[in-house]
Amino acid sequence: MSHTATRNILVTSALPYANGDIHLGHLLEYIQTDIWVRFQKSRGQACYYVCADDAHGTAIMLRAEQEGITSEALIERVSRDHQADFARFGVSFDNYHSTHSVENRYFSELIYTRLRDKGHIATRDIEQMFDPQKGLFLADRFIKGTCPKCHAEDQYGDNCEKCGATYTPAELINPVSAISGATPEVRSSTHYFFKLPDFAEFLQQWVNDGHVQPQIRNKLMEWFESGFNEWDISRDAPYFGFEIPDAPGKYFYVWLDAPIGYLASFKNLCEREGIDFDAFWQPGSDAEVYHFIGKDIVYFHALFWPAMLHGADFRTPTAVNCHGFVTVDGAKMSKSRGTFIKAATYADFLNPEYLRYYFAAKLTSKVDDLDLNLDDFAARVNSDLVGKVVNIASRCAGFVKKLGDSQLSANCAEPQMLARFIAAGDEIADDYEAREFSRAMRRIMELADEANTYIADAEPWVLAKQEGREQEVLDICSVGINLFRQLMVYLAPVVPAMAEQAQVFLNLETLDWHSRHSTLLSHTINKFKPLMTRVERDRIDAMIEASKEDLVEEQKLKDAVKGPLADDPIAEQISFDDFIKVDLRIARIAKAQYVEGADKLLQLTLDLGGETRNVFSGIRSAYAPEALEGRLTVMVANLAPRKMRFGMSEGMVLASANDDGIYLLSPDTGAEPGQRVT
Ligand code: MSP
Ligand code: ZN
Repeated sequence: MSHTATRNILVTSALPYANGDIHLGHLLEYIQTDIWVRFQKSRGQACYYVCADDAHGTAIMLRAEQEGITSEALIERVSRDHQADFARFGVSFDNYHSTHSVENRYFSELIYTRLRDKGHIATRDIEQMFDPQKGLFLADRFIKGTCPKCHAEDQYGDNCEKCGATYTPAELINPVSAISGATPEVRSSTHYFFKLPDFAEFLQQWVNDGHVQPQIRNKLMEWFESGFNEWDISRDAPYFGFEIPDAPGKYFYVWLDAPIGYLASFKNLCEREGIDFDAFWQPGSDAEVYHFIGKDIVYFHALFWPAMLHGADFRTPTAVNCHGFVTVDGAKMSKSRGTFIKAATYADFLNPEYLRYYFAAKLTSKVDDLDLNLDDFAARVNSDLVGKVVNIASRCAGFVKKLGDSQLSANCAEPQMLARFIAAGDEIADDYEAREFSRAMRRIMELADEANTYIADAEPWVLAKQEGREQEVLDICSVGINLFRQLMVYLAPVVPAMAEQAQVFLNLETLDWHSRHSTLLSHTINKFKPLMTRVERDRIDAMIEASKEDLVEEQKLKDAVKGPLADDPIAEQISFDDFIKVDLRIARIAKAQYVEGADKLLQLTLDLGGETRNVFSGIRSAYAPEALEGRLTVMVANLAPRKMRFGMSEGMVLASANDDGIYLLSPDTGAEPGQRVT
C-alpha cells in the first residue's frame, strides 16, 4: 500500500471549436487525456477532468448566419453533438461546459480588469481591411485576391498556396471579401493589447522550469530570441463573444476567453460538487493543474496563458502536455481520400476501444506526430487485445465453470508468477504517470505473452482428458484467470468498456490499481462472454467510403445554403441534344423515411408508374417524411446509380434551396407518375 497523501489534480483538454464535428485528430487528444485521468482515478487521486466548447468568434458567427440560425442555437446543437461523440469514445469528463457561460464572462472580466489595473493593457489604433457590405472587419483568412508575387488568383490574405509568398492583405491584387465578395476598404479602429513583453522575464523562467516538454522549450526559446509583441485581444462589433467592460462595441478576442474557459468549467463543477476552487487556483496552491493540447496551440498555452494568470494573481499550470498530429496511412487527413474521419463515422463502423488501444500503443510523452496506419491498426488490435488478452480468459473460463462449478481454486499454483505480475504494476504505473503509454502497453503485452505461454505449456485441455487430474486443470486455469485480472487492472484506463465487462465476468467490485494486490481464491466468477471481437478490414473500408460520403453531403449543404439561384451566374449554355439526355419523370413519393446515422437525408421510395426507385435525398431539414408520402414531384430517372453507405441511390428528386429552406418541385394536378417531363 502506498502511504502518500492523495493528490489534487485538475486536468483539461483543449476546448474544441463549436463550429465543426469531432474527428479522429481531436480524439487523439481527448483519448490521451482521458486515459491519464482514468489512471489517476484508478490510483485513488482526487482528479477532475474538465472541458468545454470554444463557442466564440467570427467563424461561429458566420456559420450560424449561413445556416440561418442564431449563434446560440448553433453552439447548443454543436455542444450536444460533441458530447455525444465523446461519450461514444468513453471520454469521461467530470464537467463539460461552454465558453459562452456566466462563469466565463465573470473570469474574463476579472482577469482583464486585474491586468488593466496593473498597467498590462494598452490601446492603439490599427488599420485593417473592412467589408463595407457586411459591415465587418476582416481577418486575413477572410480576404482573397491575386498573389502580388506570382499572380495566382484566389489566394488567401496572408500567404500564397501556389508560390508560398507571405504578404499582408493590403498587398493582394484585387482583394475581395471572402464573405460577401465586396472590395474591402482600409479602416482604422482602436484595439486593446495585452502587453506580453511585461512578462518576458517571468516566461523565460517559467519555460525553463520544466513546465513544458524539452522539444517545446527549445521551440519557445527560439521565439524568445525574436522578441515579443503585444497581443491584440480585442475585436470590433459585430462579434460573437463578450463585450469588454470599459469599451463598448469592443469584444474580447476568442483566444482571450478560450483558456479562461478552463477556469469557468472548473468553477461550474466546483459549485455543483462543493469543491474548493481557490484551493486549486490561488498562487502557491499545491494542487496540480495540467493542460493537454496539440502542438498547433502551444503559443497560447505556454506564453499568453501563464502570463495572463500570473498577471492576474492566479497560479500557473503545473505543466502543459503537448502532443503531435494524427496522420492516416502516412499522410495528413484528407477529405477526398476519405481519411478525414469523423468520430461519429468511425463509431458507426468500428469499436471505439480499438482506437483507444491503438492510440495508447503509439503514444509517448513527446510531441511527434502519430500515424494511424489502418493495416497496422487492425493487426495490432487483433493480435494484442483479442489474440493475447481476451484469449487468456476464453481459454480458462470454460474449465473453471465445468470443473470448479465457476469457482476458482482455493490455492494459487503459481504464487511467484502472480507476484511478478503484481509487482509489474509499479513500473506500468510509472509509465502511465509519465504519459509513456506506448511503453506501458508494451509491458502489459509482454505479461500477456507470459500468461499465454504458461497456459500453452501447461496444456490444461490435454490434462482435462486424463482421469483424476481435474484439480490440476482447475489450478492452472485459476492462475490464468488471476493473471487476466491483473492485465485488466492495467488496461482499464485504456479500454474502460472492455474492463467493465471483464469486471462483471470476474465478479469484482472494482478493478482499481490497488485491488490487484489480493489473489482471487475460491472466488466465484460469472459466465464468460467474448469481450472483444476482431477488427474486420471490410469495416475499415466501409468507414473510409462513408467518410467520402460525409464530404459529398457537406458540399451539398454548402451549395444549398449558398442562396437563391439569382445570386449564381447562369451556367454555361448546353445544346438541346444535351438537355434531352436528362430523363426527367413525374414521380409519386410512395414512401419516405428517416435514415439512421444520416441527419440530412431522407430515404424516398419513388413510384414511376410501374417501376419503383430508391433515392436518398438531402431534404430532411425541410420535410417530415409523413408530409411527403403520396405527393408528386419530378425526378432525374437516368442518373447513374450511386452507392452510398446506406444503400444504392437510384436517381435524384428536383428541389431548389435558399437560406430559408428547401423547395421540392411539384407538377400541376393531373400529371401521372412515370410521365416524361420536358
Ligand atoms: N478552440 C481551440 C482550442 C482552445 S483551448 C483554450 C482549438 N480547437 S480545435 O477544435 O481546433 O482543436 C482542439 C484540439 O484538438 C487542439 O488541441 C488541437 O491541437 C487538437 N487537434 C485538432 N486536429 C488534430 C489532429 N489532426 N491531430 C491531433 N490533434 C489535433 O484549437
Ligand atoms: Zn503566389
